[in-house]
Amino acid sequence: MMARSVDGEQNDFSPYKIIQKKRDGEELSSQEITWFIKNYTNEVIPDYQMSALLMAIYLKGMSSKETAALTDAMLYSGKVLDFKDKKVIDKHSTGGIGDKTSFILAPIAAACGVKVPMIAGRGLGHTGGTVDKIESIANFRTALPLEDFSRLLSTVGVVLIGQTADIAPADKKIYALRDVTATVESIPLITASIMSKKLAEGTSGIMMDIKVGSGAFMKTLPRARALARSIQETTLRFKKNITTMITDMSQPLGNAIGNSLEIIESIETLKGKGPRDLTDLSLQLAGGMVYLAGLAKSHKEGVKKAQTALTSGAALSKFKEMIAAQGGDSSVVDDYKKFPVAKCITKVEARTDGYVAAIDGVELGLHCVDLGAGRKQASDKVDYSTGIIIAKKLGERVKKGDLLAEIYHHQEQQMVVKKIKKAILTTTFKFSKNHSKKAAKLIIEVQTKWSKK
Ligand code: URA
Repeated sequence: MMARSVDGEQNDFSPYKIIQKKRDGEELSSQEITWFIKNYTNEVIPDYQMSALLMAIYLKGMSSKETAALTDAMLYSGKVLDFKDKKVIDKHSTGGIGDKTSFILAPIAAACGVKVPMIAGRGLGHTGGTVDKIESIANFRTALPLEDFSRLLSTVGVVLIGQTADIAPADKKIYALRDVTATVESIPLITASIMSKKLAEGTSGIMMDIKVGSGAFMKTLPRARALARSIQETTLRFKKNITTMITDMSQPLGNAIGNSLEIIESIETLKGKGPRDLTDLSLQLAGGMVYLAGLAKSHKEGVKKAQTALTSGAALSKFKEMIAAQGGDSSVVDDYKKFPVAKCITKVEARTDGYVAAIDGVELGLHCVDLGAGRKQASDKVDYSTGIIIAKKLGERVKKGDLLAEIYHHQEQQMVVKKIKKAILTTTFKFSKNHSKKAAKLIIEVQTKWSKK
């Protein structure tokens, strides 16, 4: 059977045969992959056939050759920028609970001379989205045309926008489908999804934060390492430099979860008053970006420069400059009352003595979705004002009556708050009587790979 194709080319490909081939564990050719992605993006191949292929990839995996072809097909489904500037470096995280490092490391790195182009996503499922969080600052514009994006990158040095239809449109469509077909946690699919967006941004290097643990897509270290290798191979093939950092996500990063609450915690961190884990990780990531940009001789020296930018206040000034340049009110930095923050705060207190043995980050994320801080469906509006601040972290000692968490909510949300409070005391936090489970090391492994140009 001759297959119909978006540009009318005739060939022997058929969606059915390609799905069948992958289902049976065979390797797809680059032409088959390119043809499938092109025709799906252009709405010739329907969602149900793409879903079947995604599940076959999820179950049977892909070789590095197939992953490369998939990344290429998704990358070239849209515009590919190239700033031809060694100092243009972006960072990406595979996603976690309370992960707000972008708001801290981007102004730090920019204050050190790195150019940081961030094209970020919105939240879906249990993880929050960078774009939703920054939009809790009134009038902050994340829908900028690519021309403004490039202009602000060279004048301010840091710019944060949402996904545009121009960059990797195939990923936008495929990611939404993966989210509802249980096919997110696949190494080739994550590699192609992340890299098609990052490579299109025109950076010369990428700082990749790969999360591992209960709150992350990669639950085990071997899986996180495999994803790191796959991302390294893809980046080097495109002649770009990369640092992969495998970091712990067995508990939320920092204490705040929820849009305004996370931006306030990020500003506190930029003022030098943030939680230790969030500060340390942001400095390590920013320092890695300084190193990749060629502005430091080693990662260690990059971290030193990042620390200076933080303590001198240069990073905080850069954050204000970015807000103003994108239409937002930068005085929020000095007046948190200007953030939408829910008025009702329900405290959750420990009922027994013990030690924090586990914190279920996915559950915390889902509680925030129930409070309206995240989306159940892509079309939902996000409530910037609600969320949860946790007061205890892994391994900490807890006495009966100690504060465990604060729930920020509206008056009319009493039912959902009751449910969340009960869950926090029974399933979200787990306690042990006699021993203290130490939190895992925050930064587990770091590798930098330079491309041979
Ligand atoms: N982040 C992405 O952009 N894509 C994935 O597939 C997973 C995390």
